[in-house]
Parts: sequence; structure tokens; C-alpha cells
Amino acid sequence: MHVHPDDPSLAVDTSPDAPPEGERWSTWDGATHGPTPRPDWVITDLGAVEQDLGVLKTGKEADVHVVRRWVPDGTDHPARDCLMAAKRFRSAERRLFHRDAGYLEGRRVRRSREMRAMARRTEFGRELISGQWAYAEFEALIALTRLGLPVPYPVQQDGSEMLMEFIGSDGVAAPRLAAARPEPSALPGLFEQARETLTRLAAEGWAHGDLSAYNILLHEGRLVFIDWPQIVDIIGNPQGFDFLHRDTHNLCSWFASKGLDVDEDGFFGDLVAAATSRW
Ligand SMILES: Nc1ncnc2c1ncn2[C@@H]1O[C@H](COP(=O)(O)OP(=O)(O)O)[C@@H](O)[C@H]1O
Ligand SMILES: [Mg+2]
Repeated sequence: MHVHPDDPSLAVDTSPDAPPEGERWSTWDGATHGPTPRPDWVITDLGAVEQDLGVLKTGKEADVHVVRRWVPDGTDHPARDCLMAAKRFRSAERRLFHRDAGYLEGRRVRRSREMRAMARRTEFGRELISGQWAYAEFEALIALTRLGLPVPYPVQQDGSEMLMEFIGSDGVAAPRLAAARPEPSALPGLFEQARETLTRLAAEGWAHGDLSAYNILLHEGRLVFIDWPQIVDIIGNPQGFDFLHRDTHNLCSWFASKGLDVDEDGFFGDLVAAATSRW
């Protein structure tokens, strides 16, 4: 095997300071950090280590892993540790990003050489695209966190990897709404949570762009909205209202299929009103 000496990930680290096998030093230092105030559980210590605990889900466009970060210091009792979800966007040729087409349009990329590389899907271009999606999702989560909306806290982003708050309890990820079995009596309250979030989002001029019961987690009775790289500017995107309509329809259909009486047209009308109220 040819090992490139400059690539630390390929070299066997024999120095006594190296973390134990299967672990890596915390990637915090070299990454772009999430918004302040930072939640207490975020570990920023330079001496922290991380371990990949495995895949939560592999997808066409990204894989989501569970990563544990902790401070390996015997004097720190109880040892501080936290779980994060690591979303890694693919750059592989075979990744056919169904979202690339409609969404990259309208997103400004400063250097046209990069725009051309992305358009031609060169290797460099594909890497840029995966980094762009990680960056887009990270930026969206920062903005949504600042608005106080129920999304995972974005911890950091570096290239095509984004680390965020792990939504779950005792190491078990919260179920997607699509797989959760909420009591019928809980449905009106859950729908109300979704309505509030979508209305505030629309009032900011945004639609999720890929909303469905698969991109909503149900955690301790609360909805947490995930999967934001394609967040849509309702007014600025030529298909903005179509995306808003599809989001609304997907959401309402799920609740209707569970037996809730939802007024989809009325809800969509409210969202359009919220989105256009500033103009
Ligand atoms: N922050 C998180 N906490 C817990 N589970 C998550 C988190 N983010 C994603 N997941 C899990 O990983 C799956 C894929 O994540 P998602 O962002 O929807 O990516 P994609 O659908 O593009 O593959 C989700 O459906 C969910 O089950
Ligand atoms: Mg998803």
C-alpha cells in the first residue's frame, strides 16, 4: 500500500500522545463553530477525543453517524462526554443529488471557476458541492437556532462534515415521525407544533424544501425538524411557493392519514400570508 506521508489519516500514529486506537483527537479546533451562546454540553476542550460509534443511517446524499466526544481525564468526575450526529455529505460520482438541480440555482458562488467545476461535476467540483451542502445545512441550522426554532444545535462544520446535537435519549436516536406511533390524542398538539414552526419559518421568508414525516424527529413529545441543506427562500427562489406548497401538503397528508382533520388549504393560505407580509 502506498502511504502518503503528509496524510495523517493514512499514517500509523505511534507517538505516546496519540489517542487509543479507534479514537481521534477532537475535531473542534480546525472546524467552523456553531453559534453562541453555546449549550453547556458542547465539549470544546483541545484535549478531548472522539469516537465514531457507527452509522445511524446511510442515504443517497449523506451518511449520518453517531460520534461521542469526551475529555479523557481521570480527574474529571463525572467524565464529561456528549453524543453528536455527524452528517457527512458524499462526493462520490455515483451520488446523484436530486436536490442539486433546483436548489443550487440562485445560490451565489463567488468564483466562477468553482461554479464551472460544479456544473461539469469534475472531482474538484463534486467535492465543492458536498462541502457546499454541508455548509448550507450548517448555515441554515445556525439561523434557525438563533430564531429559537426546534432544530438540532449545529456544533461545527468542516468540509463535507457537519456535527450537530444528537437528538435522542440514552444513546438511542429519536424516531422519525413517520415511524413514531403517537397516541391519537397527541396529534392535535403535534400538528400545532408543526404549524408554529412552519409559520415562523415562512414569516422569515423560508420553506424547509424537503419536509416530510421522515425529516421530523419525535423526541419526548416535541417535534425536532432536521435535514435542512436545501432550505428555500420562498420569494427569491423561482419555485419558492411550489416548495412551500409541497412541504405543507406532505405534512398535512401525514397527519390526515393518522385521522386528524386538517385544513390544508387554510394552512397553506396562512403560510403564504406570513411569507408575503413583509412586502
Ligand atoms: N441530529 C440528529 N439526531 C438524531 N438522529 C438524526 C439526527 N440527524 C439525522 N438523524 C437521523 O439520520 C437520518 C438521516 O438524516 P437526514 O438529515 O434526514 O439526511 P438524509 O435524509 O439526507 O439522508 C434521519 O432520518 C434521522 O433518523
Ligand atoms: Mg432526510
